[in-house]
Amino acid sequence: MVVNGWRDEVVTRLRGVKYPGFSRDIVSFGLVQDMELDGTDLKLKLKLTTPDPAIPERIGKEIRDTLKGYDPIKSVTIETEVAPPQAAATTGPQGIEGVKKIVAVASGKGGVGKSTVAANLAVSLAKNGFKVGLCDCDLYGPSQALMLGCRDGIQVEEGTERIVPATCHGVKLMSMGMLLGDDSPAALRGPMVTRFTQQFLRQVAWGELDVLILDLPPGTGDIQLTIVQTVALDGAVIVTTPQEVALVDARKAIAMFRKVNVTILGLVENMSYFVVPGTNQKHEIFGSGGGKKEAERQKVALLGEVPLDPKARESGDKGKPVVLANPKSPSGMVLQQLADGLGKILFSNIKA
Ligand SMILES: Nc1ncnc2c1ncn2[C@@H]1O[C@H](COP(=O)(O)OP(=O)(O)O)[C@@H](O)[C@H]1O
Ligand SMILES: [Mg+2]
Repeated sequence: MVVNGWRDEVVTRLRGVKYPGFSRDIVSFGLVQDMELDGTDLKLKLKLTTPDPAIPERIGKEIRDTLKGYDPIKSVTIETEVAPPQAAATTGPQGIEGVKKIVAVASGKGGVGKSTVAANLAVSLAKNGFKVGLCDCDLYGPSQALMLGCRDGIQVEEGTERIVPATCHGVKLMSMGMLLGDDSPAALRGPMVTRFTQQFLRQVAWGELDVLILDLPPGTGDIQLTIVQTVALDGAVIVTTPQEVALVDARKAIAMFRKVNVTILGLVENMSYFVVPGTNQKHEIFGSGGGKKEAERQKVALLGEVPLDPKARESGDKGKPVVLANPKSPSGMVLQQLADGLGKILFSNIKA
């Protein structure tokens, strides 16, 4: 006997079955995919997005309860399909494919040694066995190509049209310096900067990386904002010199990262002191204790105090960071320790 109207009656009853934990019913949730009446057996197809077996069990029980007493149906057979949930809407900061940790090296003020610290961190981490990438995001004053002595031209990966980074001292490097050459000024403004920065980071064939270090331009302008809003950073290292004029700007940088919930991994005080060669005399040219005090005030780690050291400048200019060129120099030793510490902070549960 064909029972007319059974479908409407079943749907009406199923509308009374709430998804566990929700006030919404399984019909309006779109979980009921199909139904068929085979004699007096109702065959129901449900589509769920959870692998939790308790959910179909509870829903099944409620379905049977609600259909009890409805004559044309004597039994219910439920087939459940578990489909993966739809990807969340792609808003907010995103990771970079193949890259485990993304760390920004930032400062408030220019000329405090941010690029020097970034370059030395990158090559030291690579020396320690990590797969490292370094991205020079300073469109207006790129310096990493020079600091890592990289003269390679740009190559484009066939098929994907992505830029292939150069490799220098074991570090994959991408820098505006390579795109512009030494003399060309980067005449990019406003929205162009934003678009360019996004492309710059996403269209590089980084491959598999443990750490990608982003050498940010000084301050809190368009490039920095674009990066913190679009790239899921694992943390930021703030570089400052000891004097108040640099610390004031470092505070602004810290505030910018905190506003978007980026962890401050620590503060690096650069140009902390100068040791007169051949003596033990320490000259605190830019004052002393500024970085330490600020780190305490901000409740962040002081990752290191890097001395002012002619070797650091020379090796930077020659394209071989001081941790490689002069590992036993005063700055070389501190910078290597800094990288060791950062490696531990980032990968404490992977590599010690
Ligand atoms: N600890 C240091 N000792 C000596 N010179 C340094 C030190 N740190 C940086 N410098 C030099 O200071 C200049 C500015 O450093 P840089 O890393 O380019 O700063 P930023 O990226 O913050 O503008 C460079 O010439 C660099 O070689
Ligand atoms: Mg720089």
